[in-house]
Amino acid sequence: MLLSNAACTKFPHMMIARTLPDLRAACASLRETGGGLTFVPTMGALHDGHRALVKAAVASGAPAVASIFVNPLQFNPTEDLSRYPRDEPADLAVLEECGCSLAWLPDVETMYPAGEATTISLTGPAERWEGDARPGHFRGVATVCAKLFGQVRPDRAYFGEKDWQQLQVIGRMVADLLLPLEIVGIETVRETDGLAMSSRNRFLSPAERAIAPVLNRMLKETARSLVEGAVTEPVLDNARRNLTEAGFGVDYFALVDGPTLAPIAFANPTARLIATARLGAIRLLDNVAVL
Ligand code: PAF
Repeated sequence: MLLSNAACTKFPHMMIARTLPDLRAACASLRETGGGLTFVPTMGALHDGHRALVKAAVASGAPAVASIFVNPLQFNPTEDLSRYPRDEPADLAVLEECGCSLAWLPDVETMYPAGEATTISLTGPAERWEGDARPGHFRGVATVCAKLFGQVRPDRAYFGEKDWQQLQVIGRMVADLLLPLEIVGIETVRETDGLAMSSRNRFLSPAERAIAPVLNRMLKETARSLVEGAVTEPVLDNARRNLTEAGFGVDYFALVDGPTLAPIAFANPTARLIATARLGAIRLLDNVAVL
């Protein structure tokens, strides 16, 4: 049911749609303002990183739509979809507080109706790194984003730079499929000690939480060394060793070309240092520019 501003006392400034007809009606009424639509796709468990995305979308001047959908297609069989944190009332309160005009809350049957036969197949920036570590993950992300873009038909969609590879994969897909929207990347929001905000941080034990900021510290120190002219491989090896000694299991710590995610030996103007390292069962992702 679509709750209009007047009908919903809990969220007086935000509409909520749970079905496609309600979504279409709500988007059509928002488009009447003439300034287009902005969009922030999420899986809920909203934190300050999501707040920054919604606020950027709202600040651009067009009404903002945000989706909350925990997408089963981007979890592989070894990952626990049922453990993904869900708190719809808290998430809706965050969206309303940030000035979101419409929350889109589809169910699994709406997103993946019986009999469907199409998913997005990816190469290029989806290969390597998270693509290797989580087979099928980017196929799931790209497929759900393509569907959400088709449902909401936004002019701009906002993604965090924290998931750098995801941002490049979506940007590439939108360019390759000639989808009529712009993808906007928003800088990573961090805790005061540098840890990148993530829905997974809540699962860190106090001891792991104390170690977690070392990942960002290593990325920043390595970027500085590269800018000062250090040779790439020894500097990357040193960072991997320091992380291992601090208690991380390092999945990768690499210097890549920003848009393509291809490994590079020398920093270029779009270079990015990307890393994923595990603390217990929690995988922490982070990346920094190398300027
Ligand atoms: O970054 C996320 O939260 C998800 O991968 C996204 C983009 C909402 C797709 O499910």
